[in-house]
Amino acid sequence: MKLFERTRIGTLQLKNRIVLAPMGTTTDHTYGFNMRDVNYYGERAKGGAGLILTGAVVCSEEFEPAPCQKLTSIKDVYMLHQVAEKVHNYGAKFGIQLSPGIGRMNWIDPSTPPYSASPCPNYYKPELICRELPTDGVKRLVKAMGTSAKFAQDAGVDIIEIHAYGGYLIDQFNSSKWNHRTDEYGGSLENRMRFMMEIIEEVRRVCGKFYPIAVKMTLDSVDDPERPLEEGLHIAKTLAESGLVDLIHFGRGAYSCRWRMVSSVYQPPGFDVEAAKTIREVTGNVPLMAHGKLNHPEVAEEALQSGALDLIAIGHGLIADPYWPNKVKKGLLDEINPCIGCGECHYNSMKGWPRPCAVNPEAMHETEYVLTPVTEKKRILVIGAGPGGMKAAATAAQRGFDVTLWEKKNIMGGAMAAAGAPDFKKDVRDQVEYLIRQVNKYGVHVELNKTATLEEVQKFNPDFTVVASGCDPIIIPVPGKDKPIVKTAIPVMLGEETVGENVVVIGGGDVGCELASDLALKGKNVTIVEMLDRIMARGGSFVANEQNLKYILKHSGANIICSARLTEILDDGIKYIKENEEHILSCDTVIFAAGFRPDQTLYESICDAGLECIQIGDNVRMGKIIDAIHQGYNSMRVLEL
Ligand SMILES: Cc1cc2nc3c(=O)[nH]c(=O)nc-3n(C[C@H](O)[C@H](O)[C@H](O)COP(=O)(O)OP(=O)(O)OC[C@H]3O[C@@H](n4cnc5c(N)ncnc54)[C@H](O)[C@@H]3O)c2cc1C
Ligand SMILES: Cc1cc2nc3c(=O)[nH]c(=O)nc-3n(C[C@H](O)[C@H](O)[C@H](O)COP(=O)(O)O)c2cc1C
Ligand code: SF4
Repeated sequence: MKLFERTRIGTLQLKNRIVLAPMGTTTDHTYGFNMRDVNYYGERAKGGAGLILTGAVVCSEEFEPAPCQKLTSIKDVYMLHQVAEKVHNYGAKFGIQLSPGIGRMNWIDPSTPPYSASPCPNYYKPELICRELPTDGVKRLVKAMGTSAKFAQDAGVDIIEIHAYGGYLIDQFNSSKWNHRTDEYGGSLENRMRFMMEIIEEVRRVCGKFYPIAVKMTLDSVDDPERPLEEGLHIAKTLAESGLVDLIHFGRGAYSCRWRMVSSVYQPPGFDVEAAKTIREVTGNVPLMAHGKLNHPEVAEEALQSGALDLIAIGHGLIADPYWPNKVKKGLLDEINPCIGCGECHYNSMKGWPRPCAVNPEAMHETEYVLTPVTEKKRILVIGAGPGGMKAAATAAQRGFDVTLWEKKNIMGGAMAAAGAPDFKKDVRDQVEYLIRQVNKYGVHVELNKTATLEEVQKFNPDFTVVASGCDPIIIPVPGKDKPIVKTAIPVMLGEETVGENVVVIGGGDVGCELASDLALKGKNVTIVEMLDRIMARGGSFVANEQNLKYILKHSGANIICSARLTEILDDGIKYIKENEEHILSCDTVIFAAGFRPDQTLYESICDAGLECIQIGDNVRMGKIIDAIHQGYNSMRVLEL
């Protein structure tokens, strides 16, 4: 496969064309590199990637507090060197992504106006108007980038990627929208690019003629006028023609359409490959790299075979499974732990939590989380084959317990099977299939169509029970709630129940919006009725997914009625109150997507009977896949009987 061909970036030899995309996942309170980084990046090198890139690393704290790792002093070199050593041990090369800052995207200090190219609104708090970086400050940042690059080179870093991407500080200078300066760093595009070009020249000057330099840039912002394509093409052409850059890494999108930058669950595999042809026309022979769900081996291989790309960067896919390259090389595709696109990695990193992956609890805990084999094959009963139950069962069985999994339905997957049912959520479906394979691989005894009751559990007499029986849908207690036109979301999404042509979905949270989009895209006439004043008002998911779902919903043709309270279900419609007026909406199907609530009586009865038991996932409280999988994994990882 071309994926595994050796290649070069300038003078840098790589064993293959697979690159860990730059991702800020590992920042801790010291804002330096630490042992977690050594192990996290080391694991991804062990997994076979040819080049490991860190997430953004800032060169200075003069104008803004570090939002990520920093490389501002010789003291930061100590740990960085250890990361480099560990990565090198596996034959991979190691690079850092270097940044002068994030400017108007600052979220670390929400009360101080950040510095940017020009006075412009802070992204998160538009009432905070940025301060213009003074000209001598710009020059100091250029120097600081060179100093950091030198620290990196001395630490054993093989390549510097300049972070000129995504609407962060360098990109704010490049942009006609944000840069209105009147000094030599503003005005024409040539002047606006001066900051970026001086940085590249400075890094080249201090690190030498042969030191590899990459630049990550934004080609265009697709759904936003922030970066017009012509501007992006001109930037790319300038970089290529400068003769100073060994690799151009491009992306698309903007914060307003974040799913184009940091892939959402809804994006198709290889979504940026098409644009590679456009950029290639101006970048010529300079190696080109892109990202965007290239963790689908056939798509990544085709992107290389077709000549669209020279290297492929994988972000999420290598958090979820660091061994992706080695597994692809060996043809062990069924063994790949697939990313579900949930965005928890990004969401948690911005919250400052070291919990970067829903489907891979070991990410960032590489050496802490070890599954120790058990000496005695005690019997574990797991109730419920949702993600929590399946992960618990597979983990316990992997440790050597004798595990039985009861599922009351005739399929495994629980609510997650419904979550992965729409065509636009295939990533989730792939993970359900993977979990089923893991359950089978480790020899779990699975009994479908088996409903756990206290009596059944007592009869089975396990040494330990895991209750992972999930939640029940909330049915709003209005007159008519038991009429035949009423359904709930999960059976409809699973195709267990059919719907008519005119559908009302009660609830405009994530589930309601996905359901409505799915049905509308299949040609149904769908209306969401939401009590709050807007859809997805409760938040709680990563912004890329939220924005993308709203976009899909908008283009699906579904109707939305907010601030509307359901009062009755009729034989052929619903009644609701909006602005103190009663309305009737005709339909032939009403689907409740108004939330879920756990029934904990089974768990409580098992505890009351004196049996050893733990409760996980949605049965504790309605949560997310990350909660179910992490609780399933961790509870069985630490279990001692
Ligand atoms: C439509 C939809 C979309 C969603 N999308 C997302 C998403 O994109 N991202 C995300 O993070 N989360 C999503 N969620 C939430 C996520 O699916 C749940 O948080 C997760 O599935 C909870 O896992 P669990 O194992 O705890 O429970 P469940 O997945 O609910 O599994 C519980 C299982 O237990 C079985 N069971 C119940 N009682 C018994 C019994 N007595 N005996 C035997 N078996 C029993 C049930 O049949 C079920 O199979 C979505 C949920 C829905 C409904
Ligand atoms: C948790 C997380 C952090 C990220 N941090 C950075 C970053 O520091 N610099 C950067 O250029 N891109 C960053 N990205 C974007 C990725 O490099 C990559 O472009 C994006 O995830 C799309 O690739 P993928 O579909 O393979 O994940 C981040 C992405 C994630 C998921
Ligand atoms: S947290 Fe979710 S989106 Fe991020 S890598 Fe893991 S599965 Fe993928």
